[in-house]
Amino acid sequence: MKVNFHHFGLAGLLLIGVAGLTAQRPAADKGLKDYYQQYFPIGVAVSTQALKNPAETALILQQFNSLTPENDMKMGPIHPEENRYNWGPADAIVDFAQGHKLRVRGHNLCWHEQTPKWLFKNADGSQVSKEVLLKRLHDHIDAVVKRYKGKIYAWDVVNEAIADNPNEFLRNSDWYKICGEDFIAEAFRYAHAADPQAVLFYNDYNTERPEKMERIYKLLKKLKDAHVPIDAVGLQGHWSLVEPTEQELRTTIERFGSLGLKVQVTELDVSVYPWEKDRRARRPDESDAYTPEMQQKQTAQYKLFFKVFRDEAKYMTGITFWNISDHYSWLDTYPVAGRKNHPLLFDENFKPKPAYYEVVKF
Ligand code: XIL
Repeated sequence: MKVNFHHFGLAGLLLIGVAGLTAQRPAADKGLKDYYQQYFPIGVAVSTQALKNPAETALILQQFNSLTPENDMKMGPIHPEENRYNWGPADAIVDFAQGHKLRVRGHNLCWHEQTPKWLFKNADGSQVSKEVLLKRLHDHIDAVVKRYKGKIYAWDVVNEAIADNPNEFLRNSDWYKICGEDFIAEAFRYAHAADPQAVLFYNDYNTERPEKMERIYKLLKKLKDAHVPIDAVGLQGHWSLVEPTEQELRTTIERFGSLGLKVQVTELDVSVYPWEKDRRARRPDESDAYTPEMQQKQTAQYKLFFKVFRDEAKYMTGITFWNISDHYSWLDTYPVAGRKNHPLLFDENFKPKPAYYEVVKF
């Protein structure tokens, strides 16, 4: 019998070639969640609209294992009238997550923004009393947390209660004006009563700026000392090419961790513009350009931040990005309307940016 060595040899060579290629390249379906499997879940903020777009759902399922509803669980959207809840969009996100075995972080239960019109007013238009407002807060938290009990593992219970002004402690919101600081502890108690298993967070921005960090620490310590059921703190992580520094970030994580709280980054993006809360109008010299310098600096920032997260892994229980890709970011319209930003790890065509490769290289 004549063996055709020629063909055998060719097939063998082909086999070796294919094996070599797969060894060098990560599997096509490997994503952030897989690289970070030993560390913590990697999440992303989503809308129901994104979950209807096949390009976006493919990217979500490849890269992430946790979801946060970007807007649909906030009090205004989910509870538009006192006796009416709008569950549809929130349910759709939770159903999608359940169907694909993704975790869900609930966002959020008590915030000064995106509140429904009826919340702070009596039927006659006058301001509600503290007693009435706390009862409304209780009923809201009880209904929302119980509906998703066992499906949502963590809640941002109170969002952004610290004032921007360094000379003030708590933000002078309607919550604070009507209830004083009690609404904070009460919100945690209501959430804990509704779902004792849920991991309860205080969540805020600019948490790494030393002065604001100290005020947040003071609030968290007060809550811990009073045995309020708080488990963790969320650093929103709306950062930029110029902040935070490595030291600020490490100090913040370790300081909050020292209170026995877990830490997550809950809304990560790295703006190509500096932080400016109050400007709305675009300047004539501003373009939408994503310059090579911006890209380089952003890549270095992402690389640094994830190195710190890995180093501080004993405190960290999750990292969530605020939006999926540069195709759409809330920073395209905030704070400056109509100025394109490029803050995420995937570009406008859903392709990984250089920063992505640095984040998964360790
Ligand atoms: C933002 C959403 O991304 C926008 O779509 C919405 O218009 C405003 O809120 N801190 C938070 C998030 O806790 O809820 C905010 O989300 C971004 C800042």
